[in-house]
Amino acid sequence: MPEAYIVDAIRSPVGRKKGSLAHLHPADLAAHPIKVLMERNTFDPSLVEDVVWGCTETIGAQAGDIGRTAWLVAGLPEDVPGVTIDRQCGSAQQAIHFAAQGVMSGTQDIVVAGGSQAMNRIPIMAAMTAGQAYGFDSPFIGATGWDARYAGEEVNQIRSAEMIAEKWGISREELDAFSYASHMRAQAATEAGWFKNEIAPLAGLDHDETIRPGTTIEGLAALNPVREGGRVTAGNASQNSDCAAALLIASERAVKEHGFKPRARIHHMSVRADNPVWMLTGPITATQYALKKSGMKLEDIDLFECNEAFASVTMAWMKELSIPHEKVNVQGGAIALGHPIGSTGAKLMTTLLNSLERTGGRYGLQTMCEGGGQANVTIIERL
Ligand SMILES: CC(C)(COP(=O)(O)OP(=O)(O)OC[C@H]1O[C@@H](n2cnc3c(N)ncnc32)[C@H](O)[C@@H]1OP(=O)(O)O)[C@@H](O)C(=O)NCCC(=O)NCCS
Repeated sequence: MPEAYIVDAIRSPVGRKKGSLAHLHPADLAAHPIKVLMERNTFDPSLVEDVVWGCTETIGAQAGDIGRTAWLVAGLPEDVPGVTIDRQCGSAQQAIHFAAQGVMSGTQDIVVAGGSQAMNRIPIMAAMTAGQAYGFDSPFIGATGWDARYAGEEVNQIRSAEMIAEKWGISREELDAFSYASHMRAQAATEAGWFKNEIAPLAGLDHDETIRPGTTIEGLAALNPVREGGRVTAGNASQNSDCAAALLIASERAVKEHGFKPRARIHHMSVRADNPVWMLTGPITATQYALKKSGMKLEDIDLFECNEAFASVTMAWMKELSIPHEKVNVQGGAIALGHPIGSTGAKLMTTLLNSLERTGGRYGLQTMCEGGGQANVTIIERL
């Protein structure tokens, strides 16, 4: 089968709630990494055969196929199309899969993949809220087949994160200790300059402004749970934020023709699903599936990125699969660095690639929980 290579990857810094990127038009945010990617890699941009873009809540300024709009806003040629896809939190990771699959099928040679989310402008759940004007409150209430199958089950990520903490026996103290580590790792990585190669400054911001270096275990312990009697707090959940990230995916043919120097090859891609009410357990079954299908063992993987949508999600995944924290989210995760939903898959991949390069690791595995109980898994090999 033809190979798919990651030639380059770049992202914006992450803007915090009401932060430095909050004023941007979502298409300007999305265009930013695409523009920088195409400046860093000099070839005729008309040779890009598609822009595959992750984004959720595609309403308002994020509507109308933002993958296409972002390319145009970046000032790039009109003859390159763009498509926007929604696999919830995994949208940009799925965009990478679709781009790589296009290349591996032999039908495409150069594809831009990535994602964006302007959560300050268009908040999480905005599409559902806006949709109430059209008669139904929720996709998960009122459809006969859904009701017959999951009647009465509240579909809500905070609830799922609580259920996971309970089932895997993870205490509030353990969730907070994990979250403290996320902030400390992210701050240390920032101070060491480990994000420099992956962040293209935007609107005067050159670092992830979601990190709280002053975080303490005591401060985290003092936060009230989001739900009465629960363990999930603002301190051990991912932060809503703004970010965009883009990757250049190319075939062997394109690499040779244009003299690209690929940074990694895509070794394995899969996507699986679990119960939609538990919602966030997908990474467990998906990682087991990916290892079986790729014939790899956990020990073969040098670094893991498992999105910290909630501390309980990553901790249950580590516990179930016996993956040591030392190999997971080594530069911090979404608790410290934000989870700008539609872009997170490409943002994490950009970080994973740079982390492998920094540490000299060979294989990196990325997975994340996604609405509907889904999870993508990508294994890359650094070159
Ligand atoms: C958990 C959640 C509801 C909290 O929202 P929020 O209240 O707007 O969060 P904030 O960032 O404003 O933090 C609330 C408080 O906690 C405090 N806090 C947050 N992190 C902290 C830390 N590390 N240390 C100390 N205090 C902290 C803040 O200071 C803030 O207090 P303040 O008002 O005095 O500043 C929200 O972040 C969320 O929904 N996260 C999950 C998103 C999601 O579901 N994504 C999809 C995954 S499936």
